[in-house]
Amino acid sequence: MQKRSNFTSKLGFVLAASGSAVGLGNIWRFPYLAAQYGGGTFLLIYLILAITFGFTLMIAEIALGRKTGLSAIGAFRSLDKRFGFVGILASAVPIIIFPYYSVIGGWVIKYFSVFISGGMGAAAEDAYFPTFISGALEPLGWFFLFIGATAIIVLLGVEQGIEKVSKFMMPILVVLTIFIAVYGLTLDGAMEGLVYYIKPHMADVSAKTILAAMGQLFYSMSLAMGIMITYGSYMKKDAHLESCVRQIELFDTGIAFLAGLMIIPAVFVFSGGNSDALNAGPSLMFITLPKVFASMKFGGVIGTAFFLLVLFAALTSAISLMETIVSIFRDKFHWSRKKACIIVTALSLALGIPASLGFGPLGFISWMKMSILDIMDFTSNSVLMPIVAFFTCIFVGFIVKPDLISTEVKETDGTFKAEGMFNLIIKWVAPIFLVLILVSSVASAMGIFVI
Ligand code: PHE
Repeated sequence: MQKRSNFTSKLGFVLAASGSAVGLGNIWRFPYLAAQYGGGTFLLIYLILAITFGFTLMIAEIALGRKTGLSAIGAFRSLDKRFGFVGILASAVPIIIFPYYSVIGGWVIKYFSVFISGGMGAAAEDAYFPTFISGALEPLGWFFLFIGATAIIVLLGVEQGIEKVSKFMMPILVVLTIFIAVYGLTLDGAMEGLVYYIKPHMADVSAKTILAAMGQLFYSMSLAMGIMITYGSYMKKDAHLESCVRQIELFDTGIAFLAGLMIIPAVFVFSGGNSDALNAGPSLMFITLPKVFASMKFGGVIGTAFFLLVLFAALTSAISLMETIVSIFRDKFHWSRKKACIIVTALSLALGIPASLGFGPLGFISWMKMSILDIMDFTSNSVLMPIVAFFTCIFVGFIVKPDLISTEVKETDGTFKAEGMFNLIIKWVAPIFLVLILVSSVASAMGIFVI
């Protein structure tokens, strides 16, 4: 068996896990979902889920990894043979996410290159994004570039270099996001957007909104796909698991909140906050932010810096996704690292091409108004991940028992403050809730009944 190196300190662990967690999920995905699902309503549901479900699952996954010293498939299997399938299901998630993640990563490179070459004015025009995205070759080219860069980094094994750079870039990204958000809030019309973003409307709460928030939680915190199990397998016993999880969550949620604050009020300022504007989906950030930058002094420089920083956040997450897939294939087929990298790249290109073309030449393919990229996103985040999360809860709650996790959490100094909440959620609240949410949303999607 391969020897596992350990993270040197608690900080090292928190930073590494945050590098995987903080990415496009926070900056690109969270704001467009919040805009689409009622602003404050979505935000509130998300926050509640983060401190309950997110916390519980992250503790469980990291502890499973640290306890067994194995990645997802092995971790489940080593504790109970019958549950190896959960690891396999979990492994399917990054295989679906990575290709379309790279499509969006490509869009980020495109905007970085437009800004750095002085094209901000054009990018702020309404027609700019739709024209770009409906083309075939250009979005494909940027997608290839992003996936190629990720593949080369993983192939050469120079992730650590990138992670080092990103460790000092992340704080700058936070500061810049705060700056842009504050600037946006001073513009006419922003207050209405701010109210929309932070004021919940209980009437908007629906199974669909809760499922969307839950899928986002998994996605953003890299949960329910085996990744945190792998990270846990590298974690030392002297780092306090519970406080690490709190810090990762706080960081991840804080950045998502700030990204929403930066984008949603701006949608009201520049696009009037009507339902078309709020429902822009994956395009939202790319439509809105150039307008914000174009309206500010030194917007060209600030926009360039912003897209560069986002690109790094996206790269560290993409690296973590690709690494996971590579190690799944290597474990399974005993391929060399090089062979696995090449095959994973080819597979991801094949899956990503339709996702990219789905906004242009393949735009006629849609299901329930979703583009190909949205369908992939829906399948992984709203179907597969809740299922993986459900089985993880059952596995921990009833097969290995929560005590196994508690003992692992207490390894460091004997404490586990939220143990009571953990037990209750993992055994009862989460599984019941997950089944209800899944059944009702699938049923309503199929038009059987609508809650
Ligand atoms: N959590 C990352 C993000 O929010 C996405 C990701 C998912 C990265 C899974 C790695 C693994 O962008």
